[in-house]
Amino acid sequence: MLSQETREIIKATVPVLEQHGTEITSVFYAHMFEEHPELLNVFNKTNQKLGRQQTALAQTVLAAAKHIDHLEAIIPNVNQIAHKHRALEIKPEHYPIVGENLIYAIKKVLGEAATPEIINAWTEAYSVIADVFIQMEAALYKEAEWQGFKPFKVVRVKDESAHIKSFVVEPVDGTQLKPVVAGQYITVKVHPEGDSNDMLRHYSICHTDVSQGLEFAVKRDVQGDVKGAVSNYLHDRVKEGDEILLSAPAGEFVVADTDRPLAFISGGVGMTPLMAMLHAQAAEGKDIKFIHSAYNRDEVAFKDEITSFHHKGNVQFYFNYSENAGRLSKEKLEKILTGEEEIYMCGSVGFMESLLAILDDMGVSRDHVHFEPFGPKMSITA
Ligand code: HEM
Repeated sequence: MLSQETREIIKATVPVLEQHGTEITSVFYAHMFEEHPELLNVFNKTNQKLGRQQTALAQTVLAAAKHIDHLEAIIPNVNQIAHKHRALEIKPEHYPIVGENLIYAIKKVLGEAATPEIINAWTEAYSVIADVFIQMEAALYKEAEWQGFKPFKVVRVKDESAHIKSFVVEPVDGTQLKPVVAGQYITVKVHPEGDSNDMLRHYSICHTDVSQGLEFAVKRDVQGDVKGAVSNYLHDRVKEGDEILLSAPAGEFVVADTDRPLAFISGGVGMTPLMAMLHAQAAEGKDIKFIHSAYNRDEVAFKDEITSFHHKGNVQFYFNYSENAGRLSKEKLEKILTGEEEIYMCGSVGFMESLLAILDDMGVSRDHVHFEPFGPKMSITA
């Protein structure tokens, strides 16, 4: 339990952190990797290059500081992060390493302004925040289908669109997999030849039915000069018959029980978890509007599966091709949505931000909007 004095100090330092948040986390990462190079096997170096993870951690620290009187306010975000941590095999013993390096970075960036009182307050607060994560992750480890990274054989690789491939894998040990919850992801661990570290990435699962193997989809990630190391490795190097390592399915972006009709809105490869949800919910007879935005027709994945829904009256598809028609807009969505739907969305951080702004503008309550960006979620919600 934090003392009143500690809480006051934490709250008073929020503006300072807001000013220096990104700088603090940059120093934090650089120092932590110098002291603990083994953690380079866990963190995403492409995110580091693009500054994605820096922002996520900075914002989470700020969110925690703002809510220090009622930490339960950040719990939905903690739950989402805890799923990712569990999938990456983050363990309680990792938390003190992050804590020490965070405090080192606060001291270094704030200089003399970081009084012993401020440092003590943040040390205490970090430990309280870390405990919330550790407890939630302990529960997730208990329910996981398997522990650690387990070898799987690639039994099918298929081009789903110009830049998306699907991979079907089966456990090498021959065990029968449990059905997956629609919307979840698996985490792949690879170690490309010539690279000094393991690399871990999350990819959405395409189907809940795993009787023919577990299927996930991967978009070749290229952002300017930066090529996603794992997606390009999977696209270029992994073939049928190869083995890869996976941790157990994770993720809390799943459809909640509701009597309302459903709308699934996706951009690009964000279609993958929604395709899994579509299969599961359509089978239960739910009314579903499936709205998908892609650059053009060549970029649309899972065309065979989409065709298989054509005769099913309860599912309606809407496609938006931005090459000719521009982005999904308020005008377009107003023609499709009635305001009654429970909405699930997935796509890039930019796509999510633009859609949330449109839905806000349309007066859709955030209580009925659920989303999962490909990228840190806190950068949108905080
Ligand atoms: C991801 C916060 C502790 C390793 C994340 C994300 C956040 C976050 C916000 C992004 C989630 C998303 O993608 O939406 C925190 C906070 C921590 C903490 C507030 C302490 C209280 C740790 C520890 C480790 C760790 C102890 C391991 C040493 C990672 C990794 C990722 C991640 C590897 C995936 C993103 C990447 O590789 O760039 N964390 N984390 N975190 N966290 Fe943590």
